[in-house]
Amino acid sequence: MIFFLDSVCLRDIKEACSTGLIDGITTNPSLIARSGVDMDSVVRDICCEVSGPVSVEVMSDGVDGMLSEADRFLEFGENVVVKIPASADGFVACKRLCDRGVKVNITLCFSVVQALLAAKAGAEYVSVFIGRVDDAGYDGLRELSDIREMYDNYGFRTKILAASVRSVYHIAEAAKIGADVVTIPMKVFRQLSSNLFTESGIRSFSKDWKEYMSSGTAKARDVRCVKEVCYME
Ligand code: E4P
Repeated sequence: MIFFLDSVCLRDIKEACSTGLIDGITTNPSLIARSGVDMDSVVRDICCEVSGPVSVEVMSDGVDGMLSEADRFLEFGENVVVKIPASADGFVACKRLCDRGVKVNITLCFSVVQALLAAKAGAEYVSVFIGRVDDAGYDGLRELSDIREMYDNYGFRTKILAASVRSVYHIAEAAKIGADVVTIPMKVFRQLSSNLFTESGIRSFSKDWKEYMSSGTAKARDVRCVKEVCYME
């Protein structure tokens, strides 16, 4: 499963990428607006920092506007993926860009039919917003699973990207469903390895080991090992 970080914060991006577990970045207009940074410069910086794909979202409504925004983004770096909403104009723009060999991430996908159009239009990724579906009282993971089934029926190559992730549970379930990619907010990324049983296991192993090393038992055993080596020789 491919891991993207859903962030525009360079400090978080550096921290997450230093683990070697992050394969790319997704951004969105709300993240950029909330961080108050200049979009062009932050995206350029992210593209330099990360060698994997960096999704950047167009904000124009019409096809022409989307295409010219996409051309501007493509100058930011070779790893730019153009993020386009799953609207009627978005699918047209997606098809035109894909025909030129540009990688497109169809975003704000909430239905099997939108995912079908994304695949037909040649998108590299389709971002299924599972958290927002849950927020609205429906089942986001069910939507993801239906899209997986439909893509498998036809052998579509578009990668299913689980987006709008709210929890570690979402990631575990998306992996079981067979989502190709998950984009993870930093808060959830930090929680990924956390497990109470592992943490208490580490504590009790460490306690037992310290007691053993500080007792006479370890030293006596060292002497016995040395003797055994001598006998073998
Ligand atoms: C995906 O690329 C989006 O940036 C993101 O997952 C949106 O999630 P949200 O519902 O938390 O805004």
